[in-house]
Amino acid sequence: MRLVAGNWKAPRQSVAQAVALAGACSGALAPMPVGVQIVVCPPFTALPALRAVFGEGVLLGAQDVFWEDGGAYTGEITAPMLVDVGCTHCIVGHSERRRLLGETDQHVALKLQACWRHGLVPILCVGETLQERQAGRTAAHLTTQVVAALGSSAPAPLAIAYEPIWAIGTGRAASAQDCAEGLGTIRSALVSLWGTAARVVSCLYGGSVTPENCDAFWGAGAANGALVGGASLDALAFAAICRAAADGGASRA
Ligand code: PGA
Repeated sequence: MRLVAGNWKAPRQSVAQAVALAGACSGALAPMPVGVQIVVCPPFTALPALRAVFGEGVLLGAQDVFWEDGGAYTGEITAPMLVDVGCTHCIVGHSERRRLLGETDQHVALKLQACWRHGLVPILCVGETLQERQAGRTAAHLTTQVVAALGSSAPAPLAIAYEPIWAIGTGRAASAQDCAEGLGTIRSALVSLWGTAARVVSCLYGGSVTPENCDAFWGAGAANGALVGGASLDALAFAAICRAAADGGASRA
């Protein structure tokens, strides 16, 4: 089944506005498309309120998690806290956190473990910079990120989003071929670590996904879904992407 996750990031948005957007998403998604798992990742502050807005059809995800389960860690949000407010998924290692907040491969690996200890499905983000791409280092970089994140961990529920950094928020999405190549590298790294268990990992594409370009990523791009940033703040656009991802476009009442 395909997976479409909306990453709302940190919009200038009150909880009331988040609730209104979630309501608009629910309305736009009715009747719920089948054959696609839909996850919405709002800011932490909106999680409890959104749990009440979304019914069973839309799952809740966080955008980050701390690696310890609790203690004297001022400002952190832990995996048990996320489970308590209804999260089933959590984005881990988004490039904005790696670049702006100093998140390292080691932090990412610890965060994955925290998710798994508490039954959260991590959405691990990996992707190369434009400089790395131009230097022909895309495959090496993606492999390094996947191996560093998963290390010696046993197979566990996981989604990986290939998010080329140059495609995030730029309106310049990767081509279907770039997507297929990036995901091919990621899948090979996964197979080398997890063997046949790697087959159940959802491999997503992220970076300027829109209703207009999304079909290319699960078509020739060979993605199992998408991680959607900007377009997930537009209820109609997000619903259109979810519907396009649904197998055969079928709906359930
Ligand atoms: P974008 O963001 O769709 O706005 O490019 C994707 C992401 O950062 O996950």
